[in-house]
Amino acid sequence: MSDKNAPIGVFDSGIGGLTVVREIMRQIPNEKIVYFGDTARVPYGNKSRETVTRFSRQIVRFLQTHGVKTIVVACNTASAYALDELEKEIDIPIIGVVKPGAKAAAQATRNGKLGVIATEATIGSRIYNQYIQELNPNVTIWGKACPLFVPLVEEGLLQDPVTDEIAKRYLSELIDSDIDTLILGCTHYPLIRSAIGRIMGEQVTLVNPAYETAMELKAMLTKRELLNTDAPGLGSNQYQFYVSDTTDKFIRFANSIIKYGILSAKHVNIEEY
Ligand code: DGL
Repeated sequence: MSDKNAPIGVFDSGIGGLTVVREIMRQIPNEKIVYFGDTARVPYGNKSRETVTRFSRQIVRFLQTHGVKTIVVACNTASAYALDELEKEIDIPIIGVVKPGAKAAAQATRNGKLGVIATEATIGSRIYNQYIQELNPNVTIWGKACPLFVPLVEEGLLQDPVTDEIAKRYLSELIDSDIDTLILGCTHYPLIRSAIGRIMGEQVTLVNPAYETAMELKAMLTKRELLNTDAPGLGSNQYQFYVSDTTDKFIRFANSIIKYGILSAKHVNIEEY
């Protein structure tokens, strides 16, 4: 039986999952978080199901060494490829970002025309199509893989003409399809939300699944009586960050995304898990 004071484990292939962490911190500020970013092996989005599942298993094992009470797969690619397998293998609750994102998008669309931008893996899996159509069979969905967005974000080119130019090329066919809602189906993409929003125009609602994921996490913890109601005391090491590559770059990025003051991150040899 998990302890409600135990931390929440969160992982992604890199820094994208911090957009989910940011939302969890906002919505359930008493929780402790252990974050793992697989910065040595990013991107996941062009890798096979087998590889992404193997990587995800190792990360889950690592997070479990921290006694986490639940795991949030803050990566659409790992949610699409590995979540079902992981769910069968562990005895703590685990949630992904795709289902909450699909729910938010199905509710947001007014004209029934929806776009999804994500990695090649997520688009190829058609997982968003499946979940959205289960909720609302009358919507039409356009999927577009945007493989260059993840390296652009990992390189910190968040406000850059190169990012704008590539976004224009990727998004032009979605503009032509008259969608009114666009799912940012990769946790890296909210970091270039302003570029995407400028190109799509203000008539298109951008859905960031992070918000709904944090809501679903809170509801799940509450239902299982696992929500931490006590504020963690000073020096409790509330937020811990681990990466599989060098820590300096990660700390710089993390501090630009999370206004919390992340002073340290530790390197982990994830292949050992
Ligand atoms: N941020 C991840 C996602 O949500 C993975 C990006 C990648 O590593 O390709 O899909």
